[in-house]
Amino acid sequence: MVGRREFIRNSVAGAGALLLTRGAPFASASDSSGADSRIEVLLTEPLGTISPDLYGHFTEHLGGVIYDGIWVGPNSQVPNVDGIRKELVEHMRKIKAPVVRYPGGCFADSYDWKDGVGPVDKRPRRANFWGDIESPSSPASHKYEPNQFGTNEFVHFCKLIGSQPYLAANVRSLSAEDFYRWVEYCNSPAGSTTLADMRAASGYSEPHHVRFWGVGNESWGCGGNFTPQEYAVEFRRFTTWVPRFGENLAFIASGPSDDSWDWTRGFLEEIVRKGPDQLRSMYGLALHYYTWNLSRGRTRDWFEGKGDALKFDAVDWYELLREGQVMESLISGHWQAMGEIDKQHQVKLVIDEWGPWYRPGSEQTPGNILEQTPTLRDAVFSAMTLDIFHQHPEKIAMANCAQLINCLNSLYLAHEDRFCITPVGHVFDMYSAHQGGQSLRTIFSVPSVHYDRDGKAASFWGLKGSASVHDKDLVLTVVNPHVSESRETEIVIRGASIQSGSATVLTHSDLHAHNSLGQKEVVQPQTRALEIKGRSVTYVFSPASVTKLALKLS
Ligand code: AHR
Repeated sequence: MVGRREFIRNSVAGAGALLLTRGAPFASASDSSGADSRIEVLLTEPLGTISPDLYGHFTEHLGGVIYDGIWVGPNSQVPNVDGIRKELVEHMRKIKAPVVRYPGGCFADSYDWKDGVGPVDKRPRRANFWGDIESPSSPASHKYEPNQFGTNEFVHFCKLIGSQPYLAANVRSLSAEDFYRWVEYCNSPAGSTTLADMRAASGYSEPHHVRFWGVGNESWGCGGNFTPQEYAVEFRRFTTWVPRFGENLAFIASGPSDDSWDWTRGFLEEIVRKGPDQLRSMYGLALHYYTWNLSRGRTRDWFEGKGDALKFDAVDWYELLREGQVMESLISGHWQAMGEIDKQHQVKLVIDEWGPWYRPGSEQTPGNILEQTPTLRDAVFSAMTLDIFHQHPEKIAMANCAQLINCLNSLYLAHEDRFCITPVGHVFDMYSAHQGGQSLRTIFSVPSVHYDRDGKAASFWGLKGSASVHDKDLVLTVVNPHVSESRETEIVIRGASIQSGSATVLTHSDLHAHNSLGQKEVVQPQTRALEIKGRSVTYVFSPASVTKLALKLS
């Protein structure tokens, strides 16, 4: 049996579709209620500010993410801004993307940043970490890293979309000196160091001001196969002296996968062996959680357990959500383990890889490894996950969906001059209204969904979501996981009255609905104004939907 950790550690060596169609009523609102479901929003019980950084992204030199996805090159026929796909830039500006992680992933720990700077025609070609699982027909740029897109191009991309860069350093195969020289290359003032001059020679005389630095990636696996204690020693060494150049550098340690409580404890215990002050050098501890096991309890094998992105039945739909819901207990569990050692909770969680991971087969561009086609199911999953993040603003400093384009839970798919927004991309657009808002406590009193899970009675929650407020603007996002039933719900706002509102709904009559490079608008959010006023309102949530209610309060 192969687990994810073994798969990643060893690097890459390594139901029939039930077409469910349902009525898809556009949800309705009224002010009288016979509803058996209720959502209360408690304006007087703020949980904390929803950091925009919870809406972060992840881009790795993997398959079609960088080459073809982000980078088309300045001489391409594809509309571009300095080589970067123009449509992508426009959409990412729209969703207010706050931060992007790069260059990996596992790729990061085999990457030498020096290969990706300097004159483009002089940059070396290198074996890509993922090259061994590329097929013979994959483009050369996927198998052998051409280094046409490196630090400057990435930071330029971030600037174009209004994001902060988050760079992951190589701990497995480069030295601490290489790490701080990369910081120096990025951040030293114009004209101050030889590396600043090299940066200027590439057209970037002003510093990049990179604040977020990952110290390795998955150091328990592809990032060095360390024990937590060994990695803690590396982390201390790498972060002991790094030039600041006036930046408030934020170091993010490679943290646990899934429920590896031992990694969290072992790593932090070793860190503080030299005293609790050591924690000051750490901004965040990275948690990775992929939702991949849809075997309904039959296996824990990494290959056997995966489900299909497009072919699934209603039980698989719920299974993905059940597995995704585990995120909540991982956040609480690791937070508790961290608190045993970091009593003041100086270190926050950074969930810098999350999303569903299916078996290969749904690639829009054949040969793009790890690419999958997100459906309505992934939109509901992603909305549910973002709602979970909102409930824990004091614990999570950042989260990065894996990965932005042409990969796992992608917001966008692209090939040559074709581009589409996936249902996941629409969720990020809808939910961007939460960024920077005050997260509010909500109480969902909703009957569960009951279904048959391989001959055994199973249940899942009936509705969940989150609320935030900016001044008089309240945003309530709600997921209805039921595959076929709408949910009439009374919504009560404690502490204010609703003056007006609108509803944006993402749903479809087919659970498998998805957008593709050929059919870009199958799944689209629809917005309409609501005739509502008062302290409580009744709203009908469509089956299998993500809804955003934007309410003006008085
Ligand atoms: O996102 C794909 C891979 O998953 C990343 O490279 C790695 O960090 C994780 O195991």
